[in-house]
Amino acid sequence: MIRNKIGARLLFAVSCLALAAVVQAQDLEKLPYVPTPQIVVDEMLKMAGVNANDLVIDLGSGDGRLIVTAARNFKANGIGVDIDAKLVELATRNARNEGVGDRAKFLEQDMFKADISKASVITLYVLPDFMERLRPKLLRELKPGARIVAHDYYMSDWHPDRFAELTVPEKKAANGTEKAYLYLWTVPAVVQGDWRINWDFGPGKLPVIALAFNQRYQMINASAANGDGAMEIVNSTLKGDDIDFFLTIGANKYRFSGKIQGDRMSGNAVTGAGGKPIPWSATKIAPEK
Ligand SMILES: C[S@@+](CC[C@H](N)C(=O)[O-])C[C@H]1O[C@@H](n2cnc3c(N)ncnc32)[C@H](O)[C@@H]1O
Repeated sequence: MIRNKIGARLLFAVSCLALAAVVQAQDLEKLPYVPTPQIVVDEMLKMAGVNANDLVIDLGSGDGRLIVTAARNFKANGIGVDIDAKLVELATRNARNEGVGDRAKFLEQDMFKADISKASVITLYVLPDFMERLRPKLLRELKPGARIVAHDYYMSDWHPDRFAELTVPEKKAANGTEKAYLYLWTVPAVVQGDWRINWDFGPGKLPVIALAFNQRYQMINASAANGDGAMEIVNSTLKGDDIDFFLTIGANKYRFSGKIQGDRMSGNAVTGAGGKPIPWSATKIAPEK
């Protein structure tokens, strides 16, 4: 995990200098082609938990190594997008040579125009400016639960869920450092706003519980109230479309776990004392106009 902000900023600065040096050396206006070492490719795909159910999209796919590895070693489907036609040709050839041409496809396209809506995993090795510019697209177009794994650069505002540091001697020549930094994010569902819990306590008992969430990416804060006033709600967490919080109702503290699907969330609630899980759901209250 990133231990503190200063440490993270320092890592960021060092990595920026590394790839920035390559940009200067190549005197290119666009993002240069610098391949991710194979050992880092393997770790990125492991960190994202890539498997046969995934569609992996590499934005700026170079020689296709991330997508070819995802298809060959992790049995995933993959699409690489690169603006350089020659690299698209090379990646297509590499996929065919590795026997995964049917599951690893490459498109000549600007990554900002690529359709990423079906991706369950996005891989990135792009400069910080690209990371920042891609952030709104990633949040808008990817489904909740999609994973984003990046080599060396992160999004300044959106803290990663996981971080790892590797020592990779072969990076020294191209990047000026042996260090490789890996970042992982899970796209969160949108819960910001007011919700109402529907929970049938039994005949004639339908308490009205109002929930309100404040959200910043995957970080959420919740408050709850019923007709009698504020209720205790603690430890609310959001991972993709999975939501979890502890709400005290009367003498019991219930753990609510559920899935978010647009304007509805539903799941089961249990007390610490055990007992049968109780189904619950909540619906979003449209903001007043
Ligand atoms: C640092 S390399 C990463 C290659 C590969 N993902 C890897 O990790 O080995 C960045 C790649 O992005 C491509 N690229 C640069 N600008 C792009 C854009 N606007 N859209 C798509 N690809 C772009 C470059 O051609 C290059 O292949």
